[in-house]
Parts: sequence; C-alpha cells; structure tokens
Amino acid sequence: NGIRISDQGFLNTAAITSKITFIDGDKGFLMHRGYPIEQLAEKSDFLETAYLLIFGSLPDKDQDTTWRYEVMHHTALAEDAMKVIGSLRYDSHPMSVFISAFSAMAAFAPEANPALQGRDLYQKNKDILNKNIIRIIGKAGTVAAAAMRVRMNRPFIAPKSNYSYCENILYMMDAVANGEDYKPDPRLVKALDILFILHADHEMNCSTATMTHVGSSLVDPYSAVAAAAAALYGPLHGGANEAVIRMCEKIGSVENVPSFLEKVKRKEELLFGFGHRVYRNTDPRSNIIKKVTESVFEACGREPLIDVATALRDAALKDPWFVERKLYPNVDFWSGLCYRAMGFPLDFFPVLFAVPRVAGWLAHWKQNLDQGNGKIWRPRQLYIGEQKRDYVGREERE
Ligand code: CMC
Repeated sequence: NGIRISDQGFLNTAAITSKITFIDGDKGFLMHRGYPIEQLAEKSDFLETAYLLIFGSLPDKDQDTTWRYEVMHHTALAEDAMKVIGSLRYDSHPMSVFISAFSAMAAFAPEANPALQGRDLYQKNKDILNKNIIRIIGKAGTVAAAAMRVRMNRPFIAPKSNYSYCENILYMMDAVANGEDYKPDPRLVKALDILFILHADHEMNCSTATMTHVGSSLVDPYSAVAAAAAALYGPLHGGANEAVIRMCEKIGSVENVPSFLEKVKRKEELLFGFGHRVYRNTDPRSNIIKKVTESVFEACGREPLIDVATALRDAALKDPWFVERKLYPNVDFWSGLCYRAMGFPLDFFPVLFAVPRVAGWLAHWKQNLDQGNGKIWRPRQLYIGEQKRDYVGREERE
C-alpha cells in the first residue's frame, strides 16, 4: 500500500511548518519569533514572552497593558473547578492535580467547546479564541498554586490581580503563613520569571506535539492542555527535573559519581538532565539556568546536591562515552536544583515546567487554527501481526 516505516519516534520527521521557535541543535541556538533566548531571558518577562509566542510580535504599550490586565483578571478559578481540585488527596502527585484541574475546567466551559458550539468556533470567532487563551494562561498559575495548597492540605488562596504573574503564584502558595499583605522576595520572583521564559516553548517537543495532535481533532483547548500536561508529566520529558534530584540523592556524594557513571554506560541507569533529541552541542537554556541557580543560592542558601550535580557534569563532559554520543546537560539538569533551593517540594517541579509551557502549547494550537490546517493528525502504521484466521470457540481451544 506504499506505506513505509522509516522514522519510529519521529527522529527526523517534520510534522508541521512553524513560525514560532527555531532551534539549531548543532550550534546550541534557540530563538522565539526571531529573538534569541538569551535576549528574552535578560530583557523580557514571562507574560511578554507568552504574548510574543502566541501573537507573533512583541506587544506595543497599549497591547502590553491590556494583555497584562486581562491575564491577571482571569486568574480566579470557578468554584466548581476548585471543588474538583479540593476533592483530591493531599498526597496526589501535583501533576495529576494539574491535569485533573484542566479536565474539570473543560467540563465547566461548554461555551469553549467546538463539539457543542460548532466545529469552526475558533476560526469564526477570534474573540472567543483570544478570550480562552487569556483564561488558560491566567488560570494555569492559579491551578499550580492550588495544587501546592492541596499538597499542604491547606485552603486555597485567592489570586491578587495587582501582582505580577510570578509574584502572584508565589503569593498564592504561601500567603496564609506570611499574611495577606505578603509580597514574595523579588529575587525569587525574578528567578521564577526567567525560568518561566526559558520553559515557555521548545517547538515540537513531546507535549507540544500532543497539544497539536489532540487539538487537530478540534477538541476544546482545556482538554487539549490536560492531554499535553499528561505528556509533559513523564520522566523523559518535563518530569526529568524531578528525576535529576532523585538521581543526585541516590548517588549521595561526590565519591559515588564515577561508579554511577559506569552504571549509566552499562545501561543500568539513565543520566537524567543529560541528552536531547535536537541539541547535540549545548542547551543554551541550561547555561542561563546555571546563572539563575547561583542567584537563587544567594537568596536562599546553597543546595548541597549542587556538588554531586557539578561532579556528574564535569565527569560526563570529559568521558568519551558521553562525548561520542553528544550528551550535554539539558534544561532540566540545573532547574531542579534551583527549585529545590527555592523550597519547592520535589514532586512539584514538573508543574513549574507545565505552567509556562502552556504558552507554547497555546501558540502552536493557535498557529494550527490560523494556518487553516483542518487535517486531523492520524499517522499510519505497518501491520506486522497475524494473517487472517478463523475464530475457534472457547471449548474447542487446546
Ligand atoms: N543517559 C544515558 N544515556 C543516554 C542518555 C542519558 N540521559 N541520553 C541518551 N543516551 C544514550 C542513548 O541510550 C543512546 O545510546 P546508544 O547509542 O548506545 O544506543 C545514545 O545516547 C543516543 O541517544 P539519543 O538518540 O541522542 O537519545 P534520544 O534523542 O532518543 O532521547 C532524551 C533524548 C532526552 C529522551 C534522552 O537523552 C534521555 O532520556 N535523557 C534523560 C531524560 C531527560 O533529561 N529528559 C529531559 C529532556 S530536555 C527537556 C524536555 O524536553 O523535557
């Protein structure tokens, strides 16, 4: 039938054309809408970068004011959604809470559902499209804070719309302990904001491909975000920041690094936070995060596992086994240490990856709608199972 299996795992297959993000894996270069990631990390902030990713250019003054106002005034969660989140046990993984929250929001947003409103809802009505983009970005941070409150077994804190996006997230996570007028440490707000810029998009990664794939069936964007978040949850993707810390804890001390690397080479272990499908030189985000981590250590104190991580990096970068395979630290190698020093619990790290990545998911979802690409994603397969055979009744089977 002319179908060939040539690229299992999509190692070299472009599924879309895109104007959002460009990666040169050999040079270790990343840019969004033409702007190098280093410039965005230094000069932009998360909400502006999210706007850039989704709408294609940096906002002018009026657009910027309106965008920030709208997002921050759509941070509150509907009471019904809060009830669903609040019904989850305190020991639920926060990513399960995040995924459940977005599924619940789909249930409470029939007006955003093309199945109910007509399949060309978002092509015909750009106001609905933009409104739901704003709602999803606004609510993602609140869902994250609510997931933290579930974990703490404490009541939810209402958002403060006059705070910045990251300031508000940190506020909602621990306002009761610190009082109503609590303002999080600006150094931590800044660090989180840079981390959010670095995580906002990364072209056709596993979760963005999921968002685009699921979105191609014209499901509502809340359900598509839930699916993308589920893809991000896995330890080979957004769960790697959590896995890096678990790995460093298991190694325990610098003396155990060489024997751990031997296990990696025998394929008994994975070196989490190393390797990337596209980067074969260096991950530019990792270099920026390393600097952010140092600034967080100044504010919060040094995270002792940095010694194990640094020894791992140094040994792996000198070892021919890793050099030959072009394995370098990726974005997750240092981010976990940063979050750990900031006091976030280990299982919360992937949520801190998911919140900013919502911007990238929505940018790709919108791009697909704008390109008028009405094709459902439906890969083919090569069947390698049994040939046709006749059914044998249960009593006649040997
Ligand atoms: N530890 C040990 N061996 C590795 C690793 C690693 N982290 N990464 C790749 N390899 C080996 C792999 O087994 C293969 O060995 P061989 O040639 O002997 O068969 C060789 O290196 C080449 O692998 P690859 O084809 O470059 O890997 P891939 O593109 O299929 O997978 C990856 C990419 C990110 C899933 C993989 O590098 C990995 O599992 N890394 C650890 C998990 C991790 O840190 N994930 C975060 C990725 S960055 C952020 C994100 O996207 O979420």
